[in-house]
Amino acid sequence: MMDQLGITALRPGPSGNENAPNHANYDESLANPIPNIPDPLTMNDGRKVTSANVWWAQRMPELVEAFSKYVFGRVPDSTPKVTWTVTAADHEMIGFTPVIAKDIVGDVDNSFYPAINVRIHMTLVTPSNAKGPVPVLMMFGRAGFPAPHEPSGEEFDQINAAWKALLVRQDPLLKEVFAQHPAWQPVKATPFQFPQLNEDGDPPNTWQLAAAGWGFVLFDPASVQADDGAGLTRGIIGLVNKGQPRKPEDWGALRAWAWGAGRGLDYLETDPAVDAKHVGIEGVSRFGKAALVTMAFDQRFAMVLVGSSGKGGATLLRRNFGEAVESLTGGEYYWMAGNFMKYGASQAAFGSMSPGDIPADSNELIALCAPRLTFISYGNPEKGDARWLDHEGSFMATVDAGRVFTLLGAKGLDVEGGYRTAKMPPVNEGHLGGQLAWRQHDGGHTDAPNMKWFLKWTDRFIGNAPPQ
Ligand code: GCU
Repeated sequence: MMDQLGITALRPGPSGNENAPNHANYDESLANPIPNIPDPLTMNDGRKVTSANVWWAQRMPELVEAFSKYVFGRVPDSTPKVTWTVTAADHEMIGFTPVIAKDIVGDVDNSFYPAINVRIHMTLVTPSNAKGPVPVLMMFGRAGFPAPHEPSGEEFDQINAAWKALLVRQDPLLKEVFAQHPAWQPVKATPFQFPQLNEDGDPPNTWQLAAAGWGFVLFDPASVQADDGAGLTRGIIGLVNKGQPRKPEDWGALRAWAWGAGRGLDYLETDPAVDAKHVGIEGVSRFGKAALVTMAFDQRFAMVLVGSSGKGGATLLRRNFGEAVESLTGGEYYWMAGNFMKYGASQAAFGSMSPGDIPADSNELIALCAPRLTFISYGNPEKGDARWLDHEGSFMATVDAGRVFTLLGAKGLDVEGGYRTAKMPPVNEGHLGGQLAWRQHDGGHTDAPNMKWFLKWTDRFIGNAPPQ
């Protein structure tokens, strides 16, 4: 990619270790080397965007183009068809809520390049006592049955009889051992286990969702695209490129994960248990970035919970605080478009470029979610949600994006002043009054302590009432 772009050297990213001599900047007075951020409400030719019509017809497409070409890469004009199959359905308990869990596989048509196989994997869980279709939160992470339903007592007896017979066939002396311990059974039901509580002592996210009358999807991003650079010639990106390396404008992993989530939503639109008008997307850290990218580019998602996303997510690319653009153009270049590497180049055919040259910034990425429900979540640096993530820069971007929510008839953060002067609220004091929300909880690198706030906030806007 560096050859394709004519880059001979990249500026190294700072160290995440705060004691290292080359550690990242954590001095707020040095954090805004580029004082002005791009304005979501000014067109490329300088005209101001003053109506919703101009936003939808002209400005939004401009931003989609800028983020596609220079930042996250383009989804190819035609992507292969995905055929969804429910491979198994299980009746399970999520906490105290009976649910139906469906394991679902999306086979991506690879007839044009059979050497690469892509099978998208997700698990859809919906309350079985629901009166109608339910809102669903799609979450980036491991897919699979969350709480497999176990065999009955009689079935266990049958399994154990077969198991013992098999063991005796393997070692006839075991017959005597089993005879001496007639009540002992090799296979037992799993004993009741208390759930692992969230950092704030609440039940797990999945329990809260099910109890609130929501469904959820466990969506495996790695089944779409690997989380490493070597994987770029495989996965969906490699399949579409027939195993060849990317071109500078091709999509990176974040856009590929987002595309996969969109295909997952295609399936959800066909499932009668799901209220497809109210499907949200969630992720933490790199998957917080992926959740924001999903929401920004696919207007069908109704809500997003962006957990601790940092650079490439909610925080300003132009900020110099914690993780830098150079961190992304170096180690994690594969999350982004190849073109994005230019902004970390110190020596290249085009000279050098820096974050100030990026034609768009995260305030505009958040703005692309407007006027839909957008919750920017962080934890507490003191509890491990590292300063590396730049909470302040994310707050600034969120404040500024609010202007687009207002233009479209929704509400941004309720703050005094613009992004340069608005004061970030303390931990545990959220701005949850509008369709664009901000809350920093007092836990670590997770969004779990914000889940109950997210659910209450969303339910209010979509008119969902938890079952009695
Ligand atoms: C690193 C990386 C971040 C990323 C995080 C994660 O800290 O620099 O960009 O969000 O890992 O996903 O865990």
